[in-house]
Amino acid sequence: MTRTDLSNVQVAKDYTGLCGLVADRIANLVQTKPNAVLGLATGSTPLGVYSALVRRHREEGLDFSRVTCFNLDEYYPMSPKSLHSYRQFMAMNLFDYINCPNWFVPDGLRRSASEIEQDCLEYEARIADAGGIDLQLLGIGRTGHVGFNEPGSAPDSRTRLVTLAEVTRQDAAPSFGGIDNVPRQAVSMGIGTIMDAREIVMMATGAGKAAIVRAAWTEDPTDHIPATWVRRHPNVHLRLDESAASLLLEADA
Ligand code: F6R
Repeated sequence: MTRTDLSNVQVAKDYTGLCGLVADRIANLVQTKPNAVLGLATGSTPLGVYSALVRRHREEGLDFSRVTCFNLDEYYPMSPKSLHSYRQFMAMNLFDYINCPNWFVPDGLRRSASEIEQDCLEYEARIADAGGIDLQLLGIGRTGHVGFNEPGSAPDSRTRLVTLAEVTRQDAAPSFGGIDNVPRQAVSMGIGTIMDAREIVMMATGAGKAAIVRAAWTEDPTDHIPATWVRRHPNVHLRLDESAASLLLEADA
């Protein structure tokens, strides 16, 4: 059996250490390239990264004034004003506290299929016009999704309307006050969009992610586990805490 390539994997002791590693990489990029283009994720995983960046902006003057940010996804249908929207999530956890005027989240407003399609093309065009994504931050879902690219997503998929897996909806249920309130769809960058980034940092925390992290980094690339495509990226970095890394390290032992 071939040994898993762990050269692009770094394991921090705990969540604080993990977020410090990732925030340092983003801060370094923003310092060396002040007009950097960042691809950002929502969910609980990157929260500590965002608070570390807010702290560095406040205490060290880390400057985001020329940075452009694109988020991976938004629930559909979803009002941008809803507290459940990823737009509000990003405002409340990052953009209300740093000096970054240019940030974009896919539009979740209910509209016709052709309008959604047109807006997805425009989202892709806006990323291209900004010069492409320098660094894409990713979490990973228990289904192996990245963004909301659930199992079955093709490696060349682009920004589009997608259907959420039941596991993903169950995971979101507590924050929506029950599964019946969780939208069934989302607008998400595609795997192809994500793979176009010049650098990818995928992060995972906690024992609940250990099995999917191991699968993502050891299984052959397959549509069944979309994160396996990400491992193929020439400049991808997996950043874990010890609990999320436990089964991957065991597989390699
Ligand atoms: C969020 C996103 C998702 C999450 C994933 C993990 O924008 O695209 O892929 O990164 O579902 O979610 P958490 O971090 O809440 O475990």
